[in-house]
Amino acid sequence: METLYEEVAALMVKFKKVVVLSGAGISAESGIPTFRSKGGLWEKYDPAIYASFEVFRTDPSKYWKIRGEFIKNYDKYQPNQAHSALVDLEGMGIVRYVITQNIDGLHKKAGSKNVVEIHGSLREIYCLQCSKEYLAPEVPDGMPPRCNCGGVLKPNTVLFGEQLPQEALATALHESATCKIMLLIGTSAVVYPAAALPSHAKQNGARIIEVNIEKAFPEADYFIEEKAGAALPRIVAEIKLICK
Ligand code: APR
Repeated sequence: METLYEEVAALMVKFKKVVVLSGAGISAESGIPTFRSKGGLWEKYDPAIYASFEVFRTDPSKYWKIRGEFIKNYDKYQPNQAHSALVDLEGMGIVRYVITQNIDGLHKKAGSKNVVEIHGSLREIYCLQCSKEYLAPEVPDGMPPRCNCGGVLKPNTVLFGEQLPQEALATALHESATCKIMLLIGTSAVVYPAAALPSHAKQNGARIIEVNIEKAFPEADYFIEEKAGAALPRIVAEIKLICK
């Protein structure tokens, strides 16, 4: 009897064209809190206040209060084994694209080449007045931090009530519609439009494999109930056995 890992690995080798949709759960083992699972950010802070574009425009210190520390320490956060496993799978021609909801930049830090950050990234910070760009660790002190011109600084991330970057969304939609397999990793799949991507893939004939510590996408064809940092390296090991 094939184990679930053997089955999933065989499918990925057979079809390739795997597109990943990752969420905060893939970065949990890098020490970055998730949003909605145990100890998540939204347990402590109401996103309708602390991550709303409307509120940011009148009181940016709310957002900077919850994100300032992370941004200052942006370079210290490192990818974990799950991110590295995806780099291996991209190098083996199995993963074609990584669509991430995460703003931590860890997929790019790990070395993934085809990455679309549909909620943007904390890496780049812009002045809302003069558009000067700052990189995360260079952000000046102050609450909220301000540009030399006096303008308020905002990370290049999508707050609630903001449009997603159109080009990124178009890429995500195209990759979801044309993949053979969508690998869901560590997402509660509740925030749209990202949450529509797995159904979009399924409607276009893709098989859905979910890796999560609790089931979030009931329509998944395969569910691996495991931490991403353990599951992804196991999938890579099974694939290497098949391709030996
Ligand atoms: N391995 C795998 N999955 C995990 C792990 C882990 N080590 N730890 C937590 N998870 C799972 C949780 O079970 C949950 O399903 O990761 C998921 C995290 O869900 P959320 O915290 O809701 O994060 P995400 O799905 O990325 O949120 C989507 O919501 O607030 C917005 O913009 C924000 O991009 C974010 C979006």
